[in-house]
Amino acid sequence: MRKAVIPAAGLGTRFLPATKAQAKEMLPVVDKPQVQYAVEEAVRAGMDDVLLVTSRGKGALEDHFDRAGELEARLEASGKLDELEEIRALTRLARVHSVRQNEPLGFGHAVAQARSHVGGEPFAVLVPDEIVPVPLPGEPALMQRLVEIHEETGGSVVAVQEVAMEDVSAYGVVTPEPFRGDVVRVAEIVEKPAPQDAASNLASRGRYLLAPELFDALDRTTPGVGNEIQLTDAINELAKTHPVYAYVYRGPIFDVGKKLDYVKATVQLALRRDDLAKPVREFLAELVARFE
Ligand code: UTP
Repeated sequence: MRKAVIPAAGLGTRFLPATKAQAKEMLPVVDKPQVQYAVEEAVRAGMDDVLLVTSRGKGALEDHFDRAGELEARLEASGKLDELEEIRALTRLARVHSVRQNEPLGFGHAVAQARSHVGGEPFAVLVPDEIVPVPLPGEPALMQRLVEIHEETGGSVVAVQEVAMEDVSAYGVVTPEPFRGDVVRVAEIVEKPAPQDAASNLASRGRYLLAPELFDALDRTTPGVGNEIQLTDAINELAKTHPVYAYVYRGPIFDVGKKLDYVKATVQLALRRDDLAKPVREFLAELVARFE
């Protein structure tokens, strides 16, 4: 498993006005753009080839992983060697490529743009507005588990989480068949069902390991929910002929595509940082005391 695809061509309408003239995926969470978390996560799972699906006005996504001669020279001259190493390391993380999605026709359509780059290999998809942090001791490593399950079963694997039944209508929901442990077989995924119609509370999250046959399924997929080409619909199509499994992930994943979620994610990610945890905890305690 070498190749990861990161769709980053959406309009980010839930995050206006910040996303009017800049990519949502470049908005920082603490001190890193969202897309960097996704690339680092793919690299942790052993991938060394990353394809960014971008669009007009999102050149900063590519620049972020490229050399920055003038900045590097300035950091070197002023002795800011830690910062220099940090930005140089970004260019060595993985081979980062990009392809354009000419029109925002949906998440599935963005993934379809990866076809010629991916070729005939299985590949990963990571949604950058859901951040999976570096696991703390005892926490599962999501992407690594998807790779292991793919290697064991030969099938495609989607990540799911158990959510409250009243929240299922925000997600793609899996109709599960028993398999083993924290893995179920996917009979179907239904996009945004009403709670009374949902077959389970297993909600699809933005991490996938997919067989290359998914691209044929995407070719046959017509616009679905929101009039967009949905990856979920293509995975359903794939499941008719290829095994699809779901891994029930019981670790942290932070949404950053919506405003309140973004604030919560920023606080939680700061609390997981050695350099920030203590002052942020103190600040929160002070704030809570003030409200009480
Ligand atoms: P989202 O629905 O979270 O992103 O898609 P969005 O469409 O940019 O956001 P809103 O709903 O308007 O606020 C999940 C991921 O898929 C990408 C997005 O960039 C995001 O990373 N995406 C979505 C595309 O690449 N192309 C699309 O046509 C749609």
